[in-house]
Amino acid sequence: MELKVFDNYHLLSHAAATRIVGQIRKKPDALLCFASGDTPKLAYQLAAEMVKSEQVDVTQCYFIGLDEWLGITPDNTGSCHYFLQRYLIQPMNIPAARVHLFNATLEDEEAECTKMDRLIAERGGIDLAIVGVGMNGHIGFNEPGTSTQTLAHVISLDEITKQVGQKYFTETTAVNKGITVGLKQLLHAKELLLMANGLKKAGVMKRVVEGEASKHFPASLIRQHQNGTVMIDSEAASELETQYQ
Ligand code: F6R
Repeated sequence: MELKVFDNYHLLSHAAATRIVGQIRKKPDALLCFASGDTPKLAYQLAAEMVKSEQVDVTQCYFIGLDEWLGITPDNTGSCHYFLQRYLIQPMNIPAARVHLFNATLEDEEAECTKMDRLIAERGGIDLAIVGVGMNGHIGFNEPGTSTQTLAHVISLDEITKQVGQKYFTETTAVNKGITVGLKQLLHAKELLLMANGLKKAGVMKRVVEGEASKHFPASLIRQHQNGTVMIDSEAASELETQYQ
């Protein structure tokens, strides 16, 4: 795992955006997996600007959404679907046929998981996954304790995730379960990029980088990933003892 610390959120976001666009240039038919949430928002906006200004061909890529709140409709502004459409897919003008986001309103949740698993397997795995980290160490909705062997699955959300998740919704919304790409698929991604920013993530990042690498704090497993990169700003790095440049 490589650790990169940036002076501020803008520089961190610019570096992540460059990585996303670089991946598309390197492998035009790459399978890219994207988290939603506050952390990657600016990176996606900057990546979309780069794609436009540099006229990068994105028509051959496959875009998948990392996760979704179960039962939340795509038009809900708090849904991962809405976020990814608004900040990434529409600004980049990705053809709909190349986008696969979990539909978390279908009764047959297993079929949704199977569809995602099949797409990832058919493409030979994820080429680049961009993930954030939850206050409980989750990546995607792989909550603490999730097996490292999981493929896409439905999961009961941790209390912390339910509470913190309210920030995405305009009104109090009951979210009890999530659907997510599994830890196995993320840990086998050819490149795994974890982003975090702000003082509120400092304690979390200390555990990710310097705590025990364990499924009980899933993001810490990135340390076992050969092509894992942790990109954080100086605030999120403020509790680290590890030396970095
Ligand atoms: C969202 C997701 C979550 C978030 C994490 C951090 O699709 O997968 O794991 O990445 O909860 O959220 P923010 O970035 O809002 O702090």
